Amino acid sequence: MSERRYLLRTFGCQMNEHDSERIAGLLTSDGYVATEEAAEASVVVFNTCAIRENADNRLYGNLGHLRPLKQANPRMRIVVAGCLAQKDGGLIQEKAPWVDVVVGTHALPGLLELLHRAETKGPQMDLSEVTEVFPSALPALREVRHHAWVSIAVGCDNQCTFCIVPLVRGPQLSRPIGDVLAEVQGLARNGVVEVTLLGQNVNTYGRDLTVPDSPRRPMFADLLRAVNRVEGLRRIRFTSPHPHEFTPDVIDAMAGSDKVCEHIHFPLQSGSDRVLKVMQRSYRRERYLAWLDAIRAAIRGIAVSTDIIVGFPGETEEDFLDTLELVGRAGFDQAYTFQYSPRPGTRAATMDDQIPKEVVQERFDRLVALQESISLERMREQVGTTAEVLVEGIGRKGGLQGRTRTNRVVHFEGDHVPGDFVDVAIVGAHPHHLDGEPAREPAAVS
Ligand code: 5AD
Ligand code: SF4
Repeated sequence: MSERRYLLRTFGCQMNEHDSERIAGLLTSDGYVATEEAAEASVVVFNTCAIRENADNRLYGNLGHLRPLKQANPRMRIVVAGCLAQKDGGLIQEKAPWVDVVVGTHALPGLLELLHRAETKGPQMDLSEVTEVFPSALPALREVRHHAWVSIAVGCDNQCTFCIVPLVRGPQLSRPIGDVLAEVQGLARNGVVEVTLLGQNVNTYGRDLTVPDSPRRPMFADLLRAVNRVEGLRRIRFTSPHPHEFTPDVIDAMAGSDKVCEHIHFPLQSGSDRVLKVMQRSYRRERYLAWLDAIRAAIRGIAVSTDIIVGFPGETEEDFLDTLELVGRAGFDQAYTFQYSPRPGTRAATMDDQIPKEVVQERFDRLVALQESISLERMREQVGTTAEVLVEGIGRKGGLQGRTRTNRVVHFEGDHVPGDFVDVAIVGAHPHHLDGEPAREPAAVS
């Protein structure tokens, strides 16, 4: 019999990339081999995202393209996984009856079983609401050998009014610290030098766990320190903390753990106190800035990135100017800017005063222009320094691409392979990347 092949397409955030490594791992353990060609795939999996705008249109568009292939090859199995699967459930097979399996975010471990059942019993769906097996505990097939995503918690207990995550990923469930450590140790033994710890809100990690024989609960700072002790590992990243429960012990743990990289993603969402309140984000602008000061004072040279939403319902020009002003003061290295778009099922989607598209676009353009100039300014500060770069692969310019500890992308020439650490002299700056040359002097910091 010829090899059974699978095609896997991933949309959305790192959590989905992490889950996709598990989907690939499960399919590989069942004898499938990866392909990029839908026509030769016996299983096609879409791992979907519900956060991105138009995610559903894109999914149904993709499913539409597959329909003729499925008609030509009725044995092809089509799977929809991820957040949209969790959110839309039965609607998916109603709209696209040629989909064989809909598997929600908590039900991934049962994927092979669902596929087998689909062979004899027809379309299958599992939208369990509870995570029984952490996706991290499943076999993984990682495309990158030197880096790994490690899930430390799934779900979120917050209720930001714009956000679909609590609806599709459920309440926070933390993974026991011993399981996280065992995974990181195994990864390091297998040559992984950099891990990114993943959670919707990493600083509330452990709130739902207890430590055996102790009144204490494992906390994110303890976890960072423990992961820092894993031999062989060189870099630790995490995403994302929430500015609300970001406590001094986390800053201390970051500062005191040499492998924890000098970069933090610290989602702001809005610079207007009024909007933050309606978003149900519990911090306010001055508090946010005070945290930034504390982080920068404790960790020299730390780079800061953020997320900002423009055009939240009811956002006035004055609110938006507050955002611009805060962005000017904060001096973010990078900002991921989003135009607000209503996600059905969220509180904000039904709020009055949705902002017209052209107003949102105009504000968005102003914010992007401001942030681009700040990003460039911050990048220029790097010129003349030497940085330790972890090689990731071939960049867009045909040379090598890697990343500094501060998460800055560097393009440079050289004879290296992914996973190598190289000291690079920074010679040029752009808003989103740096140009480098092999260094004569070793890197001092980051
Ligand atoms: N509209 C626009 N952006 C959103 N985000 C989340 N939900 C929405 C929405 N409804 C953004 C937030 C979050 C990032 C991952 O996506 O900024 O931090
Ligand atoms: Fe969504 Fe807010 Fe939870 Fe982040 S903290 S996942 S934005 S609800």
